[in-house]
Amino acid sequence: MKRTKISILIKSDKPRDNVLIKGWIRTRRDSKGFSFIEVNDGSCLKNIQVVADNSLCNYEDIKKLATGSAVAIIGSLVASMGAGQKWEMRAETIEILSLAPDTYPLQKKRHSDEFLRTIAHLRPRTNKYGAVFRIRSELSYAIHKFFRDRGFKYIHSPILTGSDCEGAGELFKVTTLDLMNPPTKDGAVDYSLDFFGKEANLTVSGQLSAEMFALALGDVYTFGPTFRAENSNTRRHVAEFWMVEPEMAFCDLTGNMDLAEEMIKYLVAYLMEECLDDLELFAKFVDKGLMSTLGNVASSDYTRLSYEEAVEILSKSGEKFEFDIDFGKDLQSEHERYLTEHHFKNPVMVYDFPKNIKPFYMRLNDDNKTVAAMDVLVPKIGEIIGGSQREERLDVLETSINEMGLSKENYWWYLDSRRFGTVPHSGFGLGFERLLMLATGTTNIRDVIPFPRTPNSIEF
Ligand code: 4AD
Ligand code: MG
Repeated sequence: MKRTKISILIKSDKPRDNVLIKGWIRTRRDSKGFSFIEVNDGSCLKNIQVVADNSLCNYEDIKKLATGSAVAIIGSLVASMGAGQKWEMRAETIEILSLAPDTYPLQKKRHSDEFLRTIAHLRPRTNKYGAVFRIRSELSYAIHKFFRDRGFKYIHSPILTGSDCEGAGELFKVTTLDLMNPPTKDGAVDYSLDFFGKEANLTVSGQLSAEMFALALGDVYTFGPTFRAENSNTRRHVAEFWMVEPEMAFCDLTGNMDLAEEMIKYLVAYLMEECLDDLELFAKFVDKGLMSTLGNVASSDYTRLSYEEAVEILSKSGEKFEFDIDFGKDLQSEHERYLTEHHFKNPVMVYDFPKNIKPFYMRLNDDNKTVAAMDVLVPKIGEIIGGSQREERLDVLETSINEMGLSKENYWWYLDSRRFGTVPHSGFGLGFERLLMLATGTTNIRDVIPFPRTPNSIEF
C-alpha cells in the first residue's frame, strides 16, 4: 500500500477509505475512550488529526506515544466535527515505528532561534523551519522555471577553481599537501607539487565560467554553492552560500537591471501564489509587515539611480550613520537600508560605482572613473543582487587586470573570449539566502540555510 502525503489528504475533495499515512507525532490528547493524535509528515505545515479509539488492539501503547514518535496509520478520511480542520482520520490500525523519549528536545513550546541553531539537525522538524525549507525548495524550482521559460540554459560551473573571480582574496584554499611539512622552493610553498600543480581554491562565484558559456549559448545561468572566507560575523554573511548567476550575451547594463527586476518580482509573486500557508506563518510569528513588504517588492517600480546620486542623498539625509559616506567609499548595509526602507520605500537599483571599489571585470564607463556595475537593494536586507556589464574590450580589460595586480597568465582563457568574437554582455549574482530572508522576514541568514557555515562554526 502506497503512503499518501498529508499535503494531498488535506486538500481532498471527498472522504476516502483505506489511506496509509506515515509521519511523526506532534501532540497526543486523550479523552474518554479515545485519543486525538496530531500527525505531521513534513509535506506541509498542517498536521492531520487522527482519532484513535480504545478498540484498537494496541491502544494501551498508543496512549503512551510521545511527541516525536514515528507512526504508520491506516484508516479512513472523514469530515471533521472539530473546528480548524476540514478532514480528520479515523484510525483502523496504528503501527508504532519508533518512539521518542521525553528527552526529545522539541517538546510542544516555542524555542528561540538561537537554541534551535544548536540543534540544526532537528530544527527542520519544527513548524517554522519546516516552512523555511519548503519555501527554499519551492524557490529553487521557481528559479529554474523562470530561466527555462525565457530560454536560458543551465550551466554547472566548477566548485574547485584556480582563479579569484572577485579579486577580494576571500578564498578557501584547497590542497592535498602535507601542511606539517609542505614542499618549498625559494622559501615559499611549492604548489607545482600540489594536486592540481598550482594553487587552487573553492569558487567565490561562477561568473567567469558563465561568461564563457554566454558567449557560446547566448543566455545562461548558474545556480550553485559559492564560498567566501570573509571573517565577518554579520546577520547577512555565511561562508558557504548559494548564488544564482544569469549571464546574457548582447546585453547592456539596462537589460541587466531589467532582468534583475523581472526575476525578483516573478519569484516573490510565485511564492505568494504557491506557498501561502507557509508564508502566513512568517507573517504571523516573524514579521507582521511581511505580506505588505512582499506585495511592494512584487509590484512596485524599482527606483534606479547612480551611485553618485545615492551618495548625495545619503550625505544630505541628516541621518547619523556609523560609517561615513562620500564618493569612492562602498555603501554599507546601513546606507543601503536607508535608501530602500526610508528614502524610496521600495527596491532600489544603484548603478555606476567607482571603479576602485569594484572587481576587474566590470566595464569601464566613458568618465574613466566609474564602472557599469549595479546593486539591487531591498528592504530589511540591503544588497540582494550584485552585477555588471562586463568589460568586453581586450585592451581595457588587460589594463584593468594589470592595475589590480592580477596575473594575465592566469586569465589567458578569459582574455581569449575578448580576442575571438567579443560582444557586450552582462550578468548578476543573486544571493539565494538573502532572497529567502526577504521572503520569510528572517533577520539572520543562519536560519534560512540547512547547516550554516560561519567563522568558528562548522558543526553538523
Ligand atoms: O556582489 P557579489 O560579490 O557579486 C558577485 O559575486 C558577482 N560575480 C556576481 C555576478 O555578477 N555574476 O555577490 C552577489 C550576491 C550579493 O549581492 C549577495 O546577495 C550574495 O551574493 N552574497 C552573500 N550571501 C551570503 N553570504 C555572503 N558571504 C555573501 N556574499 C555575497
Ligand atoms: Mg556585491
